[in-house]
Formats: sequence, C-alpha cells, structure tokens
Amino acid sequence: MTASPTEEERTAVDRILGTPGSGWTGGERDLLDGHVARGGRQARERRHLLLPALHSLQASVGWISEGGLGYVCRRLTIPPAEAYGVATFYSMFSTTPRPKAVLHVCDDIACRTAGATDIGTEFERSLGPAGEEHGGRMWLRSPCLGLCERAPAALLQAAGAGARDAALAPLGQEHAAAFVAGGGWPAPGGGSTSAPQTLDPDSREGLRLLRRVGLVDPGSFDDYRAHGGYAALRRAVELGPEGVIRELKDAKLLGRGGAAFPTGVKWELVAKQPVRPHYFVCNADESEPGTFKDRVVMEHDPFAVIEALTIAGVSTGAEKGFIYLRGEYPQAHATLGNAVELARARGFLGEDMMGEGFRFDVEIRRGAGAYICGEETALFNSIEGYRGEPRNKPPFPVERGLFGKPTGIDNVETLVNVLEVLRLGGPAYAEVGTPDSTGTRLFCLSGEVERPGVYEVECGTALRDLLELAGGVRGGRALKAILLGGAAGGFVGPEHLDIALSFEGAREAGVTLGSGVVMVFGEDADLVDTVLRIAAFFRDESCGQCVPCRVGTVRQEEALHRLVSGRTIGSPKDELALLAEIAQVMRDASICGLGQTAASAVQSAISRLEVFS
Ligand SMILES: Cc1cc2nc3c(=O)[nH]c(=O)nc-3n(C[C@H](O)[C@H](O)[C@H](O)COP(=O)(O)O)c2cc1C
Ligand code: SF4
Ligand code: FES
Repeated sequence: MTASPTEEERTAVDRILGTPGSGWTGGERDLLDGHVARGGRQARERRHLLLPALHSLQASVGWISEGGLGYVCRRLTIPPAEAYGVATFYSMFSTTPRPKAVLHVCDDIACRTAGATDIGTEFERSLGPAGEEHGGRMWLRSPCLGLCERAPAALLQAAGAGARDAALAPLGQEHAAAFVAGGGWPAPGGGSTSAPQTLDPDSREGLRLLRRVGLVDPGSFDDYRAHGGYAALRRAVELGPEGVIRELKDAKLLGRGGAAFPTGVKWELVAKQPVRPHYFVCNADESEPGTFKDRVVMEHDPFAVIEALTIAGVSTGAEKGFIYLRGEYPQAHATLGNAVELARARGFLGEDMMGEGFRFDVEIRRGAGAYICGEETALFNSIEGYRGEPRNKPPFPVERGLFGKPTGIDNVETLVNVLEVLRLGGPAYAEVGTPDSTGTRLFCLSGEVERPGVYEVECGTALRDLLELAGGVRGGRALKAILLGGAAGGFVGPEHLDIALSFEGAREAGVTLGSGVVMVFGEDADLVDTVLRIAAFFRDESCGQCVPCRVGTVRQEEALHRLVSGRTIGSPKDELALLAEIAQVMRDASICGLGQTAASAVQSAISRLEVFS
C-alpha cells in the first residue's frame, strides 16, 4: 500500500487516534486494561480503534481510499491486507470512490409492502442504476433499516464537515425528487424521532418498558430523574450484586435478544469468573428485518439503557461497558451519546459513581452495516477491530468474551426489564405474564397493519389480540399471513391467531418470537416475492466463514428462483426436496444462528402456507 493520505484523511484519522507522538487518548488507555488479543503488543492494544478510525475516514471523505487506509494501518500497526478485509466487511464503508451523499433505500420485506419496489424503479428511471455515481449522488438498495413502522424508509449517509446521517421515513416523492435534483431535504414525513403511534395518552396503562417513552425528554437528565430515573441503580447498590442477581432469578427474566437465556444466571456466571477485568455489553445492533423496538427505546428513553447497563456492570464486576449500536441509527447515536455525557457529568458514570466508590463507564461503538454483528461473538470481534465473524462456542462469552475476558451481553430490551425487576421486586415482576414467560414484551408491528409501531403486551397475549390492538389488517382486508420473529423466524397463517405470545406458546406452535417481529401480510400480498427477498437477505448477510451457510444460502436462493421461473432441475417436487435438504444441512452444520435459521422462514412458507405448491 503506497498511496499517501490527503490532509483531510490524515486529520480524520488523527481525530480518533490522536496526533502522532501525542500518545494515547484517555479513552484508549482505559480500554487497554487487560486487553488480550492477537498480534504484537502495540498492534493488539490499539487494534480496537480500527473501526472508529474507518468510520472517521468514511464520514469525512465519503469513502476509504488506499492512502487513508494505509495511514490507519501505519498508525495502528495493522497489516494492510487485514485492515482491507475489515473495511470491505461492512456495507456502510466503501473502498471505492463514493460521493458524499449516498441514499440507502430500503427494499426489504416491510418496505416492499409500502411500495419500495416501485420507489427503486423510480430512482433507476430518474437518477440511474443503484451503486453508480450520478452528479455527486448515489443510491443503493438496502436491507431493513429498522424503520419499518414508517415504511418505506431510507437513510441518507452524508460525509464532509458538519454532515450528519439522517433517517428519512416515510420516504416520500418529495425526498426522492430532492435527492434526484441534488437540493435540500424536506422534513421526513414521520419525523425521525416521533414516538410510536401506539402510545396515545389513553392507552398507557400497563406499560412498563415503555412507561417513559413519549413522556420524558430524552435529552434531559433531570427529566429522567423526575420520572423515577436512577431509583433502580440506588436499589441495586443497596441490594449488592448477589441481591440483584437473586431478584433477576426470582423475576425469571429471560433474554429478549432471541436466545431466551435466563438473565440472572448469565450475570451470576460473569460475576463468578476469577479472571479480571470483566466487561458488559449492551447489544443494540438490532438488524433483524422487521425489528425496531430497541431503536424506539434508545431514541426516547436513552438514560434507561445507560442506567440498566450501569446496574449490569456494578452487579457483574465490570468497570467498562460498551453499547454496540447499529451503524444505521444516527438518532439513537445522538441521544445515547448525549445521555452518556450527561450521566458522566452528573456523577452517574465514571469514577466514584454517586459518591459510592463504584467505577463504571460506558463507550458507544457503532457498527457499520452487517447483520451478523448482532451475534454476540461476531460483535466482540467487530469491537476488537476484526471482521465480524462469529467465534466457535465454547468458550462462551461469560468465560471468554470481549478482549478474551469474562463478558456479559444483553439486548437493550432485556436490560430495560432489569429496571422494572428492581422497581417491583423479582416476585412481583413475575406476577405478570405466564409462569414460564414473565413480564411484558415489546412487539414490532409492521407491514399491512392499520397502526404499525411498537406494542408492549403481557407475555402470553394471543396473537389475535395483538393484531387487534394494532387495528387489524390495513384497510379491513383479510389476513393472508404473519411473519413472526423476522427473517430468521417463520410464517403463520390466519388459522394460527390463537398462538400465545410466550416462549412456551411459540415453542408449542413450532414458531419463534425472535426479536418480536410481527409483520402482517394482507390477502393480496405477494408472498413469493417476500420469500425471495428473505433468501437474498441471508445470501448477502452470511459472513462466509462456514461452508453450510455460505453455500447453502446461495443454493437456497437459486432453487427458489428456479421454482418461481418454472425452470426446475427435475420436477418442482425435486426442488422442494432439495430445499428441505439444504435447510437441514444449514440447521445442523452451521457455526452460528444465522446459518441455523436461514431456511426457517422459507421452509415455513412452503409447509404452512404452501407458497410454492
Ligand atoms: C445472526 C444473529 C444476529 C443477532 N442479532 C442480535 C441483535 O441484533 N440484537 C440482540 O440483542 N441479539 C442478537 N442476537 C443474539 C445475540 O447473539 C445474543 O444472544 C444476545 O445479545 C443475548 O442477549 P439477551 O440474553 O439479552 O437476549 C443475534 C444472534 C444471531 C445468531
Ligand atoms: S453460519 Fe453463516 S454467518 Fe454464521 S459463521 Fe457460518 S457462514 Fe458465518
Ligand atoms: S425499514 Fe424497510 S423493512 Fe424495515
């Protein structure tokens, strides 16, 4: 790598790494405690700064040039081939020239029910093909942007001094026209921080996790405290780590990130590890198509996430917490960043917290567009500055996680539940819901539903009741199908509306609730198109590390296309048998959950809805 960086690139990198010779920045030094990774000492100590440095380059110039990447490599002592491997892993980074304004237009499943395909065609007609520069602008097709309740959605990725990424949803003709013309932006139709439509003042009763959403000022520490904020941390300090863990166990809280692992057990396992330091991570990567609940919480109640993460740290012996935030969430990044600063300034983060002698601080790390980085070990690799490829388990994160140290990791919604557990007490918390699925859950209603948004209901609520709460199928049409759990979940038909939305209810019905996706398809929906989009999603998002998933996701998509076009190899029945075989191999032999679930929705569409018969 011989090209030199420009002055702009040098400045962008130095902003993150400090000017050469100035030593490490304060934040860096903290992170280095006990940092065990690969490579030489200097390389491994600073490697975790690779992603922030690449973000800085991308945000200042609009792409990562050979000169810019080379400069980062020299500063961090990283072999250029490895840094290139990282930079090309993420969709928000480009290693080929890109203009400073790039519009990521969602063409994923919920947005397709709101006209995303036509929008893409219109962009192609008026601006030109996706992925090419057109007069200083470029548009790209994107997987779900986590804005499904305001579909169709787009994200403007903007580079240059003072530029900020912005969510545009619902994407209207006026946005498209403004982008094509290269002019300014009209205000997004839905307002990028609007509270979920479901939270009108008359329907707030029973809200626990969303209790403050729409009421509290997300930018005000004092308002958070006036709404009961930081009472849970005080309680946690009173109870001590063992007391907190006992409450979590009494509450029977299960993780909301998909795997339903008992939270109290996880915290206890981390707390007990003799190796130091410990870390705690908030998984805010939220990239499952159809999921947007964590974003709503982070945009509207950011201090709750930080308070809960602080409790997690104090209870598991971690002094450093990370929020790994989806790269496509600019508003959540701003609200959380502001909240971290305010909490620190008010003595609720940092040294000697609340004058109680505790030490805990939080750093926000942004992803850069890779679904797989939500998988916990891929997420650790991403923070550490490696490609976001999952690790083999065991060892499990509680034993060897981030930087090789004992690490707790929880989903945003799980963490916010902890505040409720401490507010009510574990046994009282467990009175709501079912015996095996306690508490409430957030569900993301999208697609052809009358009032899309985030809904909080008791675990065990019937799917029918949730659908009714959201006003039923849009326009009073008949229901064709519901996708539960997102692309990694499965379809159910109208005959399944009695399913109880609890872990055990879902298990009995042979479905998964995953991250709470409830995507509705009306009688006219094109489910073949939806299934093809899901297959394309997994083909794109497979990290490629293991053969069953890398090859299986491609073969699955090919077989589906052959079925749709009628150009089958053998009979359609043979293709369906091949699909079933691919599904089984991916399920049984993939390293991680992505490959293990990449055929679930496809298979459910075939078996439950007879989509290809
Ligand atoms: C492909 C894949 C993507 C995932 N994405 C997320 C995610 O975006 N957010 C999340 O909290 N968990 C995600 N998970 C689950 C995490 O690996 C992990 O189980 C979770 O963060 C644990 O938190 P919990 O115990 O609070 O559920 C994903 C798992 C897989 C296999
Ligand atoms: S299953 Fe897929 S995403 Fe997971 S490690 Fe293997 S190739 Fe990567
Ligand atoms: S934002 Fe388009 S499908 Fe989620």
